[in-house]
Amino acid sequence: MAERQPARIRLGPADLLGDRTLLPVVAGGQHLLLVRDAGRIVAAERACPHEGADLSLGHCAGGRLRCPRHLAWFDLEDGSVSPGWSFRALRLFPVELASDGLWIRLT
Ligand code: FES
Repeated sequence: MAERQPARIRLGPADLLGDRTLLPVVAGGQHLLLVRDAGRIVAAERACPHEGADLSLGHCAGGRLRCPRHLAWFDLEDGSVSPGWSFRALRLFPVELASDGLWIRLT
């Protein structure tokens, strides 16, 4: 069986986030969150993998995203959750800044 290729989807212009740190977007029918951290942009699923809180109401600092409901932190390198929690990692998606805008690869 052929391996399915990730979909590459244009999110908008390169400056889509403006001066925001967190921006909810929909791509490929999925509700996602763009996160700006230390000059890079990461995309994550918008619903917390614990109990589904809206992570766009959270906070980002120091390479981590904090859930607003129970205050777990997610590492923006690999999605892993802070110590003391036992649910799955946050799903992350690569974001590409190109001359024609901001793109995401959905797997
Ligand atoms: S809903 Fe996010 S940590 Fe519980």
